[in-house]
Formats: sequence, C-alpha cells, structure tokens
Amino acid sequence: TFVVTENCIKCKYTDCVEVCPVDCFHEGPNFLAIDPDECIDCTLCEPECPAQAIFAEDDLPSGQEAFLTLNAELAKIWPVITAQKDAPPDATEWDGKPDKLQYLER
Ligand code: SF4
Ligand code: F3S
Repeated sequence: TFVVTENCIKCKYTDCVEVCPVDCFHEGPNFLAIDPDECIDCTLCEPECPAQAIFAEDDLPSGQEAFLTLNAELAKIWPVITAQKDAPPDATEWDGKPDKLQYLER
C-alpha cells in the first residue's frame, strides 16, 4: 500500500486524489489518509504530491513508520475525497516544516 506521511499535514494540496483509480483517499481537517484495504499500488499518486508526502509502504523514510497504521486508522473514520480542492492559504509556509504530527486534527 501507499502511505501519506507527515509533510501532508497543513499542506493538503489534494493533487493526489484526482489520479487514484480506486478512490482510496480519505479527508480529514488538515491531512489525507490512504485506505490500505483499497490501494492497489498503482503508484500514480506518489509523483503528484507537491509536498512529496506519499511513499510506498516499503519505502517509508526514517521516522515516518507510524503513518502506516495512522493512515489505516484515519481512513476508516474520514470520508472519501475524489476531487481536488484549494489548499490551505498557508500551505506553502508549512511545506517542509518538521514535527508537524502534533498539529494533526482528527
Ligand atoms: Fe490510489 Fe494508486 Fe495511490 Fe494507491 S498507489 S492510493 S491506488 S493512486
Ligand atoms: Fe497531502 Fe500531497 Fe495529497 S500534500 S493531500 S498527499 S497531494
């Protein structure tokens, strides 16, 4: 499965959702999660993310391992998103900031 990682938090560009053939992105207040039970490993979303926040499960950067279970958990409670929407107005300011997990809203 593919996994949305920390840099999506407060960036949430949503380019990723348009290319997913099986609609496995789920939307929270300031983060998106991929449903691992739906993802078919097509790889299309990974290069679409301007924040480079999407990785294959087996290719997660060091320190991002917790996002595997977090995606699974949040995808179960958040609604599906299939259409791109405007990013938060301050998205570019947050892009690349470290330690954003503390800002994740549920
Ligand atoms: Fe969707 Fe493909 Fe990305 Fe999986 S890898 S979330 S199926 S676009
Ligand atoms: Fe997040 Fe990147 Fe998608 S910032 S919403 S994973 S395009």
